[in-house]
Amino acid sequence: MQVNNAISRIAISTGGGDAPGLNAVIRAVTLAGRSRGWDVVGIRDGFNGILAPDDFPRGGIIDLTRDSVRGIVHQGGTIIGTTNRGNPTRFPVQQPDGEWIEIDRTEELIGRFNAHGIDALISVGGDGSLAIANHLHQAGLRVIGVPKTIDNDIEGTTSTFGFDTAVSFATECIDRLFATATSHGRVIVVEVMGRYAGWIALDAGTASGAHAILIPEIPYQLDNVAELIRERERRGAKFSIIVVAEGAAPVGGHFSIIGQTVGQAERLGGVGAQVAEQLEALTGKESRVVVLGHLLRGGTPTSFDRLLGLRFGAAAVRALDEGYDGVMVALNPPTVDYVPLSEAAERTKRVSLTCDTMLTARDMAISFGDIGP
Ligand code: F6P
Repeated sequence: MQVNNAISRIAISTGGGDAPGLNAVIRAVTLAGRSRGWDVVGIRDGFNGILAPDDFPRGGIIDLTRDSVRGIVHQGGTIIGTTNRGNPTRFPVQQPDGEWIEIDRTEELIGRFNAHGIDALISVGGDGSLAIANHLHQAGLRVIGVPKTIDNDIEGTTSTFGFDTAVSFATECIDRLFATATSHGRVIVVEVMGRYAGWIALDAGTASGAHAILIPEIPYQLDNVAELIRERERRGAKFSIIVVAEGAAPVGGHFSIIGQTVGQAERLGGVGAQVAEQLEALTGKESRVVVLGHLLRGGTPTSFDRLLGLRFGAAAVRALDEGYDGVMVALNPPTVDYVPLSEAAERTKRVSLTCDTMLTARDMAISFGDIGP
């Protein structure tokens, strides 16, 4: 959708889990906006900085200038902070009796944007944040979305930044685990992030030559994995590496939730430990589990993620300059396109069972726990 409103001041917010490459987006938005003569501000900690009182710690809204975004592209995290507690449409408020309820603060939020003289928002986030961005767009705020997540599970874009860094680091960790697994003749289970989509497990597991990969899209039967381990043993391969996405679940079972707080997404984890314990019981082989968890979100972004972050940030500013509203910038190689925010916010991009990497993994005889070796 295109509108004609002139712009003099824009804001950027980063919401949900951090991902390597966020600072590249912030730098590109700042420099591209400033070079057009616009004021650029950053909202601290998702939307909390604009909703919070004026004495918000570190300032709720900060000026982003050429000086403040210098030397940040190689840094992980986000210099303006983030949160997964600040959904303004379902804002958690504790009642005097201790009970938590969720309230909708959309109107108040839009009022604050107007009061701060902000003409448009560049909202950088994953599926949750993009759904909020779409809601704000429908409520009248001018918004451009930028897709971010290490999980790579956003529809409409070939890739999100953060994913390449997470996969590269997971691959390096699995490579290291091969050495110790071989030396001890053990089964090592590596749990990686990937709440509802198994892209990290699929790509890192395939790149490192894992023997089985368990992902949310394919319910597993551990008997099949145990048989694979026994079969390898018969061939003289005394060790096995199993990569498990945190959202994987057995046939007929549910993924393991380790907690849920009001106003936040459920927290997953623990499947790796269960798989290791059960495989030890089934095969009699000593097993260990390594949970990579939040390590996958840290570190220096790869050059792919830095460049994608810079390209997305610059494209988001160009989209505003060209009069767009309610769109998300998206990688559509070799270019960066704009797709409707609603499309991206609607559903999760899960691993396609016929995608090329999946076919490759099957051809490499990697098990997904669904059929025997
Ligand atoms: O969505 C990105 C992600 O890293 C998921 O893979 C993971 O389940 C979740 O965030 C963890 O979130 P938190 O930082 O709240 O534990």
